[in-house]
Amino acid sequence: MKTPAAGPVQPPGPSGAPVTPTAFGQGYVLDTWYFVALSRDVGPASLTRHELLGEPVLVGRTRAGQVYALRDICPHRAAPLSAGKLVEHPGEGETVQCCYHGWRFRPDGVCAAIPSLVEGQPYEADRIRVRSYPVRESQGMVFVWMAADPRVPAEPDHEPPVFPGVVGGGAKLVESMDFDAHIDHAVVGLMDPAHGPYVHQQWWWRSTRSMHEKAKAFEPRELGFAMVRHAPSSNSRAYRILGGAPATEITFRLPGYRWEHIQVGPKQVLALTCLTPLDETRTRITQIFWSDHWVFALARPFLRPGVRAFLQQDGGMVNLQNQGLRYDPALIWIDDADKQAKWYQQLKREWTKSRAGGRPFVNPVKPAVLRWKS
Ligand code: FES
Ligand SMILES: [Fe+2]
Repeated sequence: MKTPAAGPVQPPGPSGAPVTPTAFGQGYVLDTWYFVALSRDVGPASLTRHELLGEPVLVGRTRAGQVYALRDICPHRAAPLSAGKLVEHPGEGETVQCCYHGWRFRPDGVCAAIPSLVEGQPYEADRIRVRSYPVRESQGMVFVWMAADPRVPAEPDHEPPVFPGVVGGGAKLVESMDFDAHIDHAVVGLMDPAHGPYVHQQWWWRSTRSMHEKAKAFEPRELGFAMVRHAPSSNSRAYRILGGAPATEITFRLPGYRWEHIQVGPKQVLALTCLTPLDETRTRITQIFWSDHWVFALARPFLRPGVRAFLQQDGGMVNLQNQGLRYDPALIWIDDADKQAKWYQQLKREWTKSRAGGRPFVNPVKPAVLRWKS
């Protein structure tokens, strides 16, 4: 277990709730949307237990199609609500029935019935409630809002991110893996440009011998930054077959989204990575691809093993890194290869401070050209 880093004690937020520590490798970005699942994996009447930021969360969908999220602990005697079932009783609508004593809870968390009560036992069931989390379905994905202060049930003040390039019908390829890492380490590992030649040494990808200098322009974007789209530079025959030269843009956004949006003429590919903290030591990485380009359909059989290999290599690296992190060493961040990691830390700090101070978020990232060898 990590020991808390020494440092100034965070002041409480305006609501009196303690502010989450912003030290690297600790705490979470809160008051934000985390990806939990693809919509198509949340079927009617399904009850699925997830773990989000160290909390058990039941994500379900009514037969009428409404997605909801509840704390997966029955307030009676703690049985997981996800082990129950979705039922419907006259006048109650659809409810989650606990598997232990059958208490029923509406999708908003309010208790609708306690079946063991008899005439003359006027227990007010509707004064009992299980915590419910705001949920959104957007672009075929389900997002759950994790509030800084769960005692104040407030509606989110912003919506989940909308990604470019969600085209061509449903997601074409989905791979996910759980890393034994705090989300901070997963994020900086994800946008670390210098590890490629050492960690991802596929014969079809690259090696240390192919290392060369790169210079890429970055600019601030909503709650993050982007490696700006490179203008198409060639008119080769290959590009004409594809329908144009590919132009790519890579964007990062709090709390843990990274996407590469490729445009080839009018066609697009989106490679989206969603990071979801399960708890302080485990993070789920979900890699999702959309495309309406015919080349993608051809490449898909090769893509899945490639994506898995990448994730496994990164996961293996995380496990090795944990051998050192266990001793809580100081870390060194260098320019320019670790600049994106520094920006992430600044973004995270600014987000937490702006929420605690009840003021607008000011993006700390300034436009820059970063140079590194990889
Ligand atoms: S534990 Fe859920 S109804 Fe008793
Ligand atoms: Fe990697």
